[in-house]
Amino acid sequence: MNVNLPGASPFDLDNHAGYAAWRSDKLRLAPRSLEELVVEVDDPCALTAQERSAILARCGSANMAIYVSDRRDADKEIPRRLALQLGLATLDDNYLADDDGISSLSVAQAGTRREFIPYTDRAISWHTDGYYNPPAHTVRGMILHCVAAAESGGDNRLLDHELAYLLLRDENPEFIRALSRPDAMTIPARIEGDLDEVARPDQPGPVFSIDDRGFLHMRYTARTRSIVWRDDDGTRAAVACLEDLLKRGTPWTHQGRLESGMGLICNNVLHDRSAFADSPEHRRLLYRARYFQRIAG
Ligand SMILES: [Fe+2]
Repeated sequence: MNVNLPGASPFDLDNHAGYAAWRSDKLRLAPRSLEELVVEVDDPCALTAQERSAILARCGSANMAIYVSDRRDADKEIPRRLALQLGLATLDDNYLADDDGISSLSVAQAGTRREFIPYTDRAISWHTDGYYNPPAHTVRGMILHCVAAAESGGDNRLLDHELAYLLLRDENPEFIRALSRPDAMTIPARIEGDLDEVARPDQPGPVFSIDDRGFLHMRYTARTRSIVWRDDDGTRAAVACLEDLLKRGTPWTHQGRLESGMGLICNNVLHDRSAFADSPEHRRLLYRARYFQRIAG
């Protein structure tokens, strides 16, 4: 039965009218250039009312904003205090984060971190953050603050996950159904050490889900290692279509590089990172703060 209840979720595949209205608003408001996402701020630690509303407006329409500031010092209070002003309060304390829950992303010279791609200078394929987290630790909001850019490279591409959903649903609503199954994408258990200790159990989950406030969440990685897709034709076709649109690019795929003092604020949108090269004078350092909340508003 097709139900078109007023107020029903546009993400309900049976809600054709609701989806059509949401879709037309989304496309009308979606920024087509990176510049439209940029907000200049004087001090990220103490936003003016105008700066804050400019950031919230962009996050409202595009799920992301980029700020430009003169704060080039290495101070983790910058992302932490910025986040608090935007309703991001509870940090995802992943085990590689520093003691304060904010990760310092730079090329690791030694230790466990060297085994993890964010702490190398290699490219990172399209993903949303925390895709391997259990549902209780869903990463909904994120800030990436750049202290220092690399000598070369280290660009990000960005795509609002709601637009990825829209493009897939326009192509074939069955793609959405396949990617919304609770076992669409499984991250196999991570085993550590000689004792075969399970550091993290198998983590199955959907790619697309709707949270209890009605917002769309996306859990995705384009990695092919350490990931198991549901073994059926529908899932394979949906994943192929998503991979293809990420690879080809869309009118709403943005590309740029965070320079010192700049940062990305987002509702965990799709993003990647190109490889980079450090020099003694230009060692890339980004602070990454992941939150269980979405950005306010
Ligand atoms: Fe990421």
